[in-house]
Amino acid sequence: MKSWTWLSRIVQNAPVINPSILAADFAHLEDEIRKVEAAGAEILHLDIMDGHFVPNLSIGIPVVEAIRRITQLPLDVHLMLSEPAKYVKAFRKAGADILTVPIEVLDDPRPLLDEIRTLGAAAGLAHNPPTPIEKLSPFLKDCELVLTMSVMPGFGGQLFTESVLEKVRYIRENTDSGTLISIDGGINLQTVVRAAEAGCHLFVAGTAIFGAEDYTVRMRELRRQANEAFLSQKR
Ligand code: DX5
Ligand code: ZN
Repeated sequence: MKSWTWLSRIVQNAPVINPSILAADFAHLEDEIRKVEAAGAEILHLDIMDGHFVPNLSIGIPVVEAIRRITQLPLDVHLMLSEPAKYVKAFRKAGADILTVPIEVLDDPRPLLDEIRTLGAAAGLAHNPPTPIEKLSPFLKDCELVLTMSVMPGFGGQLFTESVLEKVRYIRENTDSGTLISIDGGINLQTVVRAAEAGCHLFVAGTAIFGAEDYTVRMRELRRQANEAFLSQKR
């Protein structure tokens, strides 16, 4: 297992809020990124969709490249693709620091997770709400990040699926302390508490941040809510 200073910092700083630019104003993307940087973002979540693994399309390689040019933040690139192996190299070249791939399209994710690390990025493994934990559990030690989807991937602004928290608790108990436990979908001031209690470190939030009047205030509120729950869970 490789280690990266920026990755250890995020684990140490947990809980960390991870803005998903899917909900940003794409006509002013640089301003939006500056605003979340000013609000204290430590990482940025980028959603890549292929219209096949998920019923939607989003941004691709040139946009990741452009974002890489304007920010130093680690880029957490979430690949919602039926054939992620075809694209990991290009996304790494574009500037991805974490590359997360879906377990649903991989019988054995290990070769691809190894390839991602060889390319120099941290390897993440995502699982959708209906995917049983048994499908994921053999590979929990083979990745730097485990991403629990708390909505069906494809769209922002959906409702949080409470039942995934059971899988998060299992993941928390069965991963090394250096593995980042991330959650994505429907995170708001209420659900962030329950996800933190279950043991998440990293909270992807789109609508909750970019839909807020003041990103700094909202990021602070999310962090505070998560922090209280995270500390109580540690006790
Ligand atoms: C959903 C994406 C999410 C999305 C979350 O497919 O993976 O990252 O941006 O959006 P919210 O926070 O609005 O649920
Ligand atoms: Zn995502």
